[in-house]
Amino acid sequence: MVSLTGSLFRSRLDKRFDDRTARFHTSVVEDLRIFEDDIDGTEAHDIMLHEQGVIPLEALKLILSALEEIRGEWRRGEVEIGAEFEDIHEYIEARVIKKIGIEAGGMLHTGRSRNDQVMVDVRLRVRDEILEMGERVLDFVEALLEKADRHRETVMILYTHGQHAQIGTFAHYLMAYADALLRDFQRLMDCYGRVNRNPLGSGPVGGTSINIDRGRTTELLGFDGLVENSIDATSGRDWAIETASVSAILMSHLSRVAADLIEWSTAEFGYVEVADEYSSSSSIMPQKKNPSTLELIRGKTGEVYGALMELLTMVKGVPSGYYQDLQGTKPPLWRCLDTVKTCLEVMTGIISTLKVREGRMREAVEGSLAIALDVAEGLVAEKGLPLARRGPREEDAGGGREPPRPQAG
Ligand code: ARG
Repeated sequence: MVSLTGSLFRSRLDKRFDDRTARFHTSVVEDLRIFEDDIDGTEAHDIMLHEQGVIPLEALKLILSALEEIRGEWRRGEVEIGAEFEDIHEYIEARVIKKIGIEAGGMLHTGRSRNDQVMVDVRLRVRDEILEMGERVLDFVEALLEKADRHRETVMILYTHGQHAQIGTFAHYLMAYADALLRDFQRLMDCYGRVNRNPLGSGPVGGTSINIDRGRTTELLGFDGLVENSIDATSGRDWAIETASVSAILMSHLSRVAADLIEWSTAEFGYVEVADEYSSSSSIMPQKKNPSTLELIRGKTGEVYGALMELLTMVKGVPSGYYQDLQGTKPPLWRCLDTVKTCLEVMTGIISTLKVREGRMREAVEGSLAIALDVAEGLVAEKGLPLARRGPREEDAGGGREPPRPQAG
């Protein structure tokens, strides 16, 4: 295991954090997710600094090989970071300096602050995860389409207010959510365009006087463009909130599908049966088959809404510029991304393996008056009758009712 002791950034302070405060203050746990993104960001920054004549070639070579060694240590599971480090940024910089010395290692962070650095890392991570999420949305849509294709002729009741409304097909139902999820996909891709912007070069808040080239790091890191304003780049989190917001809308769709299928799995409906591999039973009632994975998806929708609220609340009172509050925006964002991705995968499995009881759906249709509107519309079309008919109270009154009178005060 590789271990280091921190405090790279405390030279003006006489004392260390005590252990409890160090554990309270550090972000190393949530930073593990951006470990390699941090290395990527630093490599791009330092290559640019070399091209701009700020870092000599020899030093650059040392820095890059140290960073690649650290990447190797990370991938082999050898990295262990304790609360003595404020964050992953401090750990990696300290580790590079340990490997190659302060002469070359001390150049690594020139013209950069942790405030623009952390935004590069999180944006790089979130952009990848948005693409992963997008792929899973498309997998889910594909599962819906396949199922719909097999149920074009499967007639079923369509409900409003939980009551028999009209007659449709199971394909009609499934396609409603294929359409909704395709809009979620568009929202995700739109959001991606705002996430994939380069904040690097913004320094702590007001930029840097070092001769950097923001266009070059934009190119090296594959960003679509710059976050132009340095205050915005270091303290804006709207793009993270937008990711959570798109996620929340998406989850609302999964949750409604879950609600439908849970209801339709009851003995009373019996329209569908969730496959065994997505069901659970009871500790004492062996007759039970619970659609509990669907219940979890519906429940976890609350978790994602919660993450969105947490993010919104976390930023609302923070003045412009970086404040440590913003460190707290990472955990809800990670939670949100993880939950959405897992729910999409599980839901795709549930839909692909769902047993559909066409017979039960048809029985419900046959014993129903849900054809009423079609019959009425048939009369309108064939006999030219008006659709509307007066209610009994109006007929008793011999026509129009009196308009309500204002009450005297
Ligand atoms: N760990 C911090 C975060 O996650 C790093 C950013 C800057 N820290 C600082 N003291 N300026 O937000």
